[in-house]
Amino acid sequence: MGANWLVIVLRVIHVLTGVLWVGAAVFVARFLVPAVRGAGPAAGPVMQQLIQRGLPAYMPTLAIFTVLSGFGLYWHDSSGFRLHEWLGSGTGMTFGAGAVIALGVFIYGATVVSPAAKRMGTIGGRMREAGGAPAPELVAEMQRTQAQLGRGSAIAAGLLVLATLCMAVARYV
Ligand code: HEM
Repeated sequence: MGANWLVIVLRVIHVLTGVLWVGAAVFVARFLVPAVRGAGPAAGPVMQQLIQRGLPAYMPTLAIFTVLSGFGLYWHDSSGFRLHEWLGSGTGMTFGAGAVIALGVFIYGATVVSPAAKRMGTIGGRMREAGGAPAPELVAEMQRTQAQLGRGSAIAAGLLVLATLCMAVARYV
């Protein structure tokens, strides 16, 4: 019997996109959002560059590959969700818990975090178009949106670290 190439390919995709996803999420929550909030209007051009360079597509793409390859591996390990012994074992349930958490973050990211980031870009654009000192309503809206993004990205990053811990220990519990 040779190596199981499909599983190897799925694992390579899974681990690689998974670590890149979590790493980017922690960087955004721990450094990028606080830095943007701290810099105020000076952060505008950097935000524009990040958008132009594809940050809004980068993270969802990694998330989709992580989740799809993860489901493929889960399907393989549980013989198509039929191997109840594996599904109910500590290993199966821990991989399952990590999977549910990561899937939850994927949905949360798409419905809460990304929209807040997009809104921030839109408000920034309106500020630049208006020129001069931005209207107080716009500033207040920007601060509200940044607070949402700060909270959302921190929740997402924390849960992704938790999902990673599940993945790290599942095989040995
Ligand atoms: C935060 C995102 C995730 C990260 C960083 C991650 C990371 C990892 C790592 C490092 C492994 C190797 C662990 C080992 O073999 O002992 C692994 C395995 C696995 N992951 Fe994930 N994972 C993530 C999300 C998911 C999701 C969403 C699913 C399911 C939909 C999933 C299902 C699995 C399965 C079934 C295995 C075992 C693969 C095998 O039998 O070789 N993972 N994951």
